[in-house]
Amino acid sequence: MATTRRTFIRHVAALGPVAMTFWIEPNSLWAVECNKSDETKDCTLPDPPVATRFIPHEPKIRVRYSAAEMAQPSRAKQLQAFRDAICLVRDLPPDDVISWTKYVAQHCTLCATSNTSNVHYNWQFPTWHRCFLYFLERQMRIMSKNDDLRLIYWDWENKNSRVLPDIYAPKNQPLYWDNRYLGPKTFPLSDDDVNVQPLLSLRSFEAFGGTQFQRTPTPALYSGPHANVHNAFADPDESGTQGDMANLQFSPRDPVFYAHHGNIDRLWASWNAAGRQNPDFGDAKVYFYDENRKLRFVMLNDVRDPRKLGYRYSSLIKPAVTPSKQQRFTAAMKANRATLSAAAVERLSAPTRDFLHIRDIKNLEQFPESSRRFGIFSAKPVVGTDAKTSPDFLGMVSRVLSGGHAHTEELSAAIEVTGKLTAKVTKGVDLFVAPLSSDRKTTAEAIPLVSETITVIS
Ligand code: C2O
Repeated sequence: MATTRRTFIRHVAALGPVAMTFWIEPNSLWAVECNKSDETKDCTLPDPPVATRFIPHEPKIRVRYSAAEMAQPSRAKQLQAFRDAICLVRDLPPDDVISWTKYVAQHCTLCATSNTSNVHYNWQFPTWHRCFLYFLERQMRIMSKNDDLRLIYWDWENKNSRVLPDIYAPKNQPLYWDNRYLGPKTFPLSDDDVNVQPLLSLRSFEAFGGTQFQRTPTPALYSGPHANVHNAFADPDESGTQGDMANLQFSPRDPVFYAHHGNIDRLWASWNAAGRQNPDFGDAKVYFYDENRKLRFVMLNDVRDPRKLGYRYSSLIKPAVTPSKQQRFTAAMKANRATLSAAAVERLSAPTRDFLHIRDIKNLEQFPESSRRFGIFSAKPVVGTDAKTSPDFLGMVSRVLSGGHAHTEELSAAIEVTGKLTAKVTKGVDLFVAPLSSDRKTTAEAIPLVSETITVIS
């Protein structure tokens, strides 16, 4: 039998101080005891008991660090504690409601349908996922008796963090995941994958994070870097083997999910820090099991401020354009042609950064259901056009495929078009959309883009 971390510690303790001198930290210490949940793909939960209210009021605010910060030698102990705590959760028996398996099941049951309970296409996208991370963090803290423990985020918007963070990579440690596919054409992530500035340019929470209703609009936060990072874990021909991360249903099996969503949560916190207001969520609530295995409900209004949940981020992302200096123009839509006012054209020609918010693209269901990402173009591209080099390519909008439901959702795009439209706007712009392969070539004939509205933010 391989030595597990616990038996190793027991041996060391039995041998006393002499053995302690020879303490080494081989990676394989966790190998056996961290994988109880690994084989079980479970999308079921027990019948829900009556839930009581949970009001978050954490006494301590501690920092969530990036994966790169956690890899610094000065944080070795902290990293060790984090890995140990992940291991404790992964060690719980799969049918325990607070096991790793059931964490995944909580997520899975809420994305297995396209009905109202799906937490990806409405304002539950930012809020439910914030709570999901919080309850895991809280449980890790309690199980490891370490009040200071906080989750980690993967700051993929940072040019130095565009591949899987180092601390997740080595085998035989709790952050490793076997069913993890690192797409050779998608890593390192590109600027088009992870540009967060279009999201930070959005003014209304509705555009950023959705409303109480499904897909009215679909939150832009879902279909930008969020989806692109999930999709980077899919295989290049978009079928067959793929990492769990690329399947919405089971993505939380991979520990890197929580670092990815940590950054989505940080993006929301950054959006607020830029002066954007969260809405009144009224009596909307979400449900989770607490560390005592009791079902609790949390009012969304109680999670608008992360400090109540006991954490802040080691850094936030600054908007490239000061919100108060931005101007907004709504394009006039005639048939599929977006036409801009003279004032908008003038502004687009100015040396500012320019963004488009394309609310609810309606005709994506004309493409194969297996399409993950779509390119938006300012002229019709021929099939096989390389978006990376096409002068007409404006940006990308994506979804994460999910084993559990059909993909008919409308997507909202927030893209950066700085310098890309200047020459065309006087005549009006016809926008086209076409599915893209993992190496960003169009895979079907483009169609005119039909959307609810188009806003130019400049
Ligand atoms: Cu619930 Cu990134 O997914």
